Amino acid sequence: MKLITIVGARPQFIKAAPFSKVFRENNNEILVHTGQHYDKNMSDVFFEELGIPKPEYNLGVGSGTHGQQTGQMLEKIEEIVLKEKPDGLLVYGDTNSTLAGALAASKLNIPVYHVEAGLRSYNKLMPEEQNRVLTDHISELLLCPTQTAIDNLEKEGITKGVLNTGDIMYDVVLRNIDISKKKYCNGEWLKELYKDNNETFNLIEKEYYLATIHRAENTDDPKKLRNIFNAFEKMDKPVLIPLHPRTRKLIEEQNIKLNNVVIIKPVGYLLMLYLTANAHMVVTDSGGLQKEAYFLKTPCTTLRDQTEWIETLHNEWNVLSSININEIITKVTRELNCFKYPQPLLFGDGHAAEKICKAIENGGKY
Ligand code: UD1
Ligand code: UDP
Repeated sequence: MKLITIVGARPQFIKAAPFSKVFRENNNEILVHTGQHYDKNMSDVFFEELGIPKPEYNLGVGSGTHGQQTGQMLEKIEEIVLKEKPDGLLVYGDTNSTLAGALAASKLNIPVYHVEAGLRSYNKLMPEEQNRVLTDHISELLLCPTQTAIDNLEKEGITKGVLNTGDIMYDVVLRNIDISKKKYCNGEWLKELYKDNNETFNLIEKEYYLATIHRAENTDDPKKLRNIFNAFEKMDKPVLIPLHPRTRKLIEEQNIKLNNVVIIKPVGYLLMLYLTANAHMVVTDSGGLQKEAYFLKTPCTTLRDQTEWIETLHNEWNVLSSININEIITKVTRELNCFKYPQPLLFGDGHAAEKICKAIENGGKY
């Protein structure tokens, strides 16, 4: 089979790693990087660490408004689809790269395969919700990570080509957690932080919060962004933040001053796994990180009013918080009862990549 796979943003590189490996054993994959993320620590580091094949095309689209970014991708992906004439086109998740890829292929009557189909926050103001709903409705195969995702699609009348493959991000965690622990144990994680940031950090395992903030709904409202960082300043433990460039720009523009918050550059996947596994708690608005915290049995507080990953809320492994200083502090310092409960296995068996591959090869069966 000849397949075009579209990636462009950090979480998509991570999801692509196990699939590309297994799919390329028997098929031809053409990897297209839209260039949506382009800084070394937002892109290249993942290709290097996870052994992702070098993209056959890099569209170099970069940053811009939604229209500019999606429009440029659409035009360039269409050219590649016309030239390569693939049997299908695969997209991951819910970014502008996802929608552009799906739309380009669908208009040319090339089957679209959507990995991480069926997720919903039911908040139409989120760009991600718009991207995923539109992508699902033009996809031929809807490769769902959870039963909830399947149920969500059914509510929208989508039942054909829908499969529960388990979550491909769970595959990646299982394959890399021991490598990460081996690489960064015995204080090596602090050395790596020093190397990257040219600064010494007084951090102790299990005695820090690991935070990431980048969602438009939090960053683009100056009041919300201030509330988040004001809450972090009042925490009982230091807050370590590998800061997304989008948020860094806004913090600098707004001149937000910080003492309890340790800001570092975005880190590679292996270090991120280590930091997540060894945090007292994760505090985030990231989709992927909520799940990784769950997989690694680190409690999480999600700074959003909804989550697509409702399974993580069971037994308060993950708790939602609105962007209100007191609420954030109360939720983050809650009693951690989650450790009393076993975690049900709701994200598959760690072999999503193989199932997705078989489903694509066999026209929807695995
Ligand atoms: C995008 C996705 C979001 C996903 C996130 C993963 C959309 C609409 N959003 O958000 O769903 O959770 O990726 O991280 O697709 N920038 C840099 N260097 C980079 C990349 C971005 O400086 O390598 C800065 C630019 O100022 C850019 C801003 O970050 O304007 C936002 O980047 P963009 O790709 O538009 O959206 P994300 O916030 O990264
Ligand atoms: N991540 C990383 N380094 C960082 C921050 C995040 O490797 O500095 C990883 C994280 O472990 C997860 C993925 O990036 O696997 C999540 O991506 P992000 O939060 O950017 O996007 P989302 O999942 O919200 O779409």
